Amino acid sequence: MTNVVVVGSQWGDEGKGKIVDWLSERADIVVRYQGGHNAGHTLVIDGTSYKLSLLPSGVVRPGKMAVIGNGVVVDPHALIAEIEKLAGQGVTITPDNLRVADNATLILSLHRELDAMREDAASNSGTKIGTTRRGIGPAYEDKVGRRAIRVMDLADLDSLPGKVDRILTHHNALRRGLGVAEVSHQTIMDELTSVAERVLPFRDTVWLFLDKERRRGARILFEGAQGSLLDIDHGTYPFVTSSNTVAGQAAAGSGMGPGSLGYILGITKAYTTRVGEGPFPTELKDEIGEFLGQKGHEFGVVTGRKRRCGWFDAALVRQSVATNGITGIALTKLDVLDGLEELNICIGYMLDGEQIDHLPASQGAQARVEPIYITLEGWKESTVGARSWADLPAQAIKYVRQVEELIGAPVALLSTSPERDDTILVTDPFED
Ligand code: GDP
Ligand code: IMO
Ligand code: MG
Repeated sequence: MTNVVVVGSQWGDEGKGKIVDWLSERADIVVRYQGGHNAGHTLVIDGTSYKLSLLPSGVVRPGKMAVIGNGVVVDPHALIAEIEKLAGQGVTITPDNLRVADNATLILSLHRELDAMREDAASNSGTKIGTTRRGIGPAYEDKVGRRAIRVMDLADLDSLPGKVDRILTHHNALRRGLGVAEVSHQTIMDELTSVAERVLPFRDTVWLFLDKERRRGARILFEGAQGSLLDIDHGTYPFVTSSNTVAGQAAAGSGMGPGSLGYILGITKAYTTRVGEGPFPTELKDEIGEFLGQKGHEFGVVTGRKRRCGWFDAALVRQSVATNGITGIALTKLDVLDGLEELNICIGYMLDGEQIDHLPASQGAQARVEPIYITLEGWKESTVGARSWADLPAQAIKYVRQVEELIGAPVALLSTSPERDDTILVTDPFED
């Protein structure tokens, strides 16, 4: 028995929500450890769809504890709104099933505004990132800049005014430079005091809670957001998010030591998608890309933007297997490939006349690489809802085996529809 870390092995939206929901039946605690409400995780249970951004996907299952770790940036308004939205879907959230780390950083309105202002300004010069405009980057900047307001500060009304002054000194200097109105001390104090009562009941010393639970033998499931190619260090910088998304962050972002993380499960889509700007070597701007987008319903959960689609890039996922220490993968959306005559898989790139087997780190080189493909025969039969290997056509099995071989990691789970139970178990990550 072990703990399990779920990470996205591509550019996000691999189907982490579905797999975390499925796995959480076997877990006691589900922990988010990075990102914020830029994530959009979809679960479908008996035809009902739940869309979670900030809350761990395990929260929909009765009897499970959901934890938001210190590595997450928490927008208190988004937290309250999501709790209310789920209440409308019959999911009750109280301190009995949700804990928020008291040392997690808060996203404030000024972070959202700065994110949007920067993106608007960059649109004019063609240098935007295509962020979710949720204030994620600016909030992490303030955390690293040691001027963030944290969850615990909501309970300390004596020291809060000084902290607000400190963050405003920085932001108002920026705002003057950008030519926008300054924010008053009172505005931020009002914003914080208006949410304190709703947020504080959930606060906890999460590292301590997790340590106690680990010692008593609880099974802990870590739910990553975004994907490894959006990692601030290992991703396609600067077209990335502002946190480390790789599995190592599960330790730092929750306060549990890395020795207790256990099985690293990389959620991997059977093709590739990306939302927002940035390099995408296997992108298909033709009718096959359109086919994948329509059939896979590739529209962003958070912003509704159309996701860019392309062939499976084994070179990228092989890189993620290394940077995360992936033990095995959950291969999702295989069913979306049903009906295609031929399937390409990228195995490496040509860069300036040389063959390379990984994506180089420089922005210029990333823009110049040309994918090298192998081509596999497709299959005509439907794999939608398949629940055993026996239900899969031979060519689909061949495709899966080829993926395993190229990325250097085995398939532990295979997903064949958005529904919770349309999942084939090969290896139980908790028992591995
Ligand atoms: P996440 O951000 O990684 O949790 O993924 P998203 O929820 O943003 O996007 C994945 C989408 O694919 C969601 O709409 C899921 O319901 C859906 N999905 C997940 N697994 C499968 C699958 O195996 N087949 C199909 N057709 N859809 C899936
Ligand atoms: P889940 O958890 C896909 C992308 C944005 C943008 C870049 C930076 O659902 O897989 P940010 O708002 O984080 O500063 O935006 O990262 N991005 C995601 N793309 N899935 C996500 O989350 C994403 N979260 C952020 O589109 O390109
Ligand atoms: Mg998503």
